[in-house]
Amino acid sequence: MNEGIQKVYNIVKIRINYFVYSLSLLSETLCNSSFKLYHKDLKVVTKFLRGHLDKFFTNFNIMISIIVAVAENNVIGKDNDLIWHLPRDLKHFKETTTGHYVIQGRKTYESCGKPLPNRTNVIITRDKNYKVENCIIVHSLEDAIKVAKEDSEAFIIGGGKIYEQVLPLTDRIYLTKIHHSFEGDTYFPELNMDDWTEIDQRKFEPDEKNKYPFTILTYDRKK
Ligand SMILES: NC(=O)c1ccc[n+]([C@@H]2O[C@H](COP(=O)([O-])OP(=O)(O)OC[C@H]3O[C@@H](n4cnc5c(N)ncnc54)[C@H](OP(=O)(O)O)[C@@H]3O)[C@@H](O)[C@H]2O)c1
Repeated sequence: MNEGIQKVYNIVKIRINYFVYSLSLLSETLCNSSFKLYHKDLKVVTKFLRGHLDKFFTNFNIMISIIVAVAENNVIGKDNDLIWHLPRDLKHFKETTTGHYVIQGRKTYESCGKPLPNRTNVIITRDKNYKVENCIIVHSLEDAIKVAKEDSEAFIIGGGKIYEQVLPLTDRIYLTKIHHSFEGDTYFPELNMDDWTEIDQRKFEPDEKNKYPFTILTYDRKK
């Protein structure tokens, strides 16, 4: 596909995903609140939709990719830290994200403790006073995507809370599946495999430096 057409296609697709996500949030809100559509309630619905439509029309013309390492039982972390140490997977992470925007939740940033070198680090927090040298601080996921829009592919690097929210907007997932279960407190959201096509798969056996077998999978959202 020609690059211009691909860009337009990405914008439309991401906006549609966001709209569907907004509608699902709305229906969740309605279900949880034993809603009756009185006049006052209609105003609430309209305000909600307007807020989400504004986001829907935000200029999201980039490819959004998640990169994550997931245990067999979907665990991704414990006590605000990673659980396993797999240098071969870290090499894949570095090679894939270098030169790009890396978007992360405040907790993931703090578990790492410093900006990732040779990448533009974007931290999402609700704390308006939060500051970190050499990082871009934003207060919503939409703003994170807006600041990264000059990139051809922006990477969402965690953690659980951010993956959950960004999944409906995601075009590609680089998923390292570790063939072992771990105890943890943070999980990657369940993927609906009807939405994704596997485009690449690389298997790695354990060795002296990498204790667990793992597979690096790449999924693209079905068109
Ligand atoms: N296995 C992997 O590939 C992988 C990758 C990354 C992280 N992890 C693990 O995941 C865990 C951390 O994940 P987590 O879910 O606890 O935290 P997180 O997603 O890294 O960060 C959550 C924080 O992000 C901010 N935030 C989230 N949504 C927001 C929104 N819509 N608007 C504004 N701010 C928002 C809030 O910060 P404030 O509280 O400051 O407002 C929130 O407390 C750690 O154990 C880490 O090691 C694993």
